[in-house]
Amino acid sequence: MDKKLKLAVIGKPISHSKSPEIHQDFASQFDTKIEFKKDEVTPETLETWLADFFKDAGKGVSITLPLKEAALNYADEISDRARLASACNVIYSKDEKIFADCTDGFGLIKDLEENLKVSLEDKKILILGAGGAARGIIPSIIEKKPAKLKVANRTESKALLLREDLEAKVNLKEKNTIFEAGDLSDDFLLDDSYDLVINSTSISTQAGESLGLPKDLFTGTKLAYDLFYSAKKTAFMQDALAAGAEKVSDGWGMLVEQGAESFRLWTNLIPDTSRLLEKPID
Ligand code: ATR
Repeated sequence: MDKKLKLAVIGKPISHSKSPEIHQDFASQFDTKIEFKKDEVTPETLETWLADFFKDAGKGVSITLPLKEAALNYADEISDRARLASACNVIYSKDEKIFADCTDGFGLIKDLEENLKVSLEDKKILILGAGGAARGIIPSIIEKKPAKLKVANRTESKALLLREDLEAKVNLKEKNTIFEAGDLSDDFLLDDSYDLVINSTSISTQAGESLGLPKDLFTGTKLAYDLFYSAKKTAFMQDALAAGAEKVSDGWGMLVEQGAESFRLWTNLIPDTSRLLEKPID
């Protein structure tokens, strides 16, 4: 019998993660046997955990918050998309080397364009939060040439640093994209209206917690998208609907699509995501 491929998802909190079930679904579509564990890992225990995992013939790891930036330090090779994002959500071993990649942006764009039929070109987009989750998706969003992209963060300095990093790596003029960074004040948030508002903050990991956004923020918003996956509508989604957003979505589709791309990196196989997209795992 073939040996099982050793896979894992790590982060903190981790108990809510559906990655094991998602990857078992993918593996079941092929003649591939996998063992997928989930472990609580913090930035302090990350180095030891990864060393043990790969020593023990581990193949691939999904990286979730708060490890997406720290995990880059432990790779021998970093993909272009992870370098642009300064963050990774997948680490794997290949040819005796450790590779880091970022499939979050791929997953989000696939969910927006193919599943939700939302186009980003020439649109105005607001991203709330400036941590690893935001970094992971911003390069892929810019690739789609939005008219304006604003990043608003509780700690303004982090948003400004993110903009500085990105301006050094991406030619925004070539994309015709105006990129602005600021805080969560009404002044900055209400200076524009947005076709798409994306919540990349970690607030939805605390059920019921609200960002307390001004209601007018969602005037004219076609879609309010929470990167977090939740069987029930998150407080962000509820606030957006109550304030007039046309449509809301949680991050289930992105989770499934980034997972499919990670699965491809680990196995060279492209799974069909339609069954999981139709039927989220509770
Ligand atoms: P991740 O890797 O998932 O992005 P992170 O790097 O810890 O995780 O970033 C969490 C993000 O959520 C940050 O933008 C954080 O804002 P700060 O930079 O000011 O800490 C944001 N965040 C978390 N809790 C929040 C809250 N209660 N209100 C507003 N923003 C919050």
